[in-house]
Amino acid sequence: MQKYPNIFIFDHPLIKHKVSILRDKNTGMKEFRELIEEITTMMTYESMRDVELVPVEVETPLEKTVQWRIPEESVAIVPILRAGLGMVNGVHRVFPTARVGHIGMYRDEKTLQPCEYYCKLPDGIEDKTVFLVDPMLATGGSACDALTALKKRGAKHIKFMAIIAAPEGIEAVAKMHPDVPVYVSTLDRELNAHGYILPGLGDAGDRLFGTK
Ligand code: PRP
Ligand code: URA
Repeated sequence: MQKYPNIFIFDHPLIKHKVSILRDKNTGMKEFRELIEEITTMMTYESMRDVELVPVEVETPLEKTVQWRIPEESVAIVPILRAGLGMVNGVHRVFPTARVGHIGMYRDEKTLQPCEYYCKLPDGIEDKTVFLVDPMLATGGSACDALTALKKRGAKHIKFMAIIAAPEGIEAVAKMHPDVPVYVSTLDRELNAHGYILPGLGDAGDRLFGTK
């Protein structure tokens, strides 16, 4: 989004294709879960572009060479519970040794205000690149509070990944956390009166886990 330098919106045909299936109300739980993973993997590829690499010596069958690796312990994934859990495997597919923290937030259905109910992070969070993940960025309340909670616990290098965002959520995060790069696969039109994204995909947690 040109207005906010920390917001990156993917505009990739393959992601558009996958998101269109994800939105379909006839897409069942298994396919929904697989699509969330696939889209996350594609987004991870792009959002990891600037992670730190260290030189390592590798011996090929022919000779020794100096190559570049991401230090295993330098990346953490923190899903916002519950729906963020659906994105963890998508990051693990491309970076399987990333440590996983969890932050529990639920949105009060009447006030739409987020409430934190759980937080457990890997040791040394201050030195890691932390991928905070949640498929939905609606009012932005959950993401803003989760980012504040991570910073309060020492995280300094945070990236936030969401699959679908409303303009209201983007605005909220961009204003409250201008230091955090935000990667969004798809920017939707608006929020409805109940805080649901339009056209959206409904309740991501319920569709991932088969609840109502
Ligand atoms: C959803 C979603 C986000 C939040 C987004 O979670 O996964 O965490 O709402 O809304 P916001 O931007 O207005 O805060 P929900 O509270 O429904 O909990 P769940 O993941 O347990 O379903
Ligand atoms: N949370 C969801 O799961 N879906 C929305 O549209 C908004 C918040």
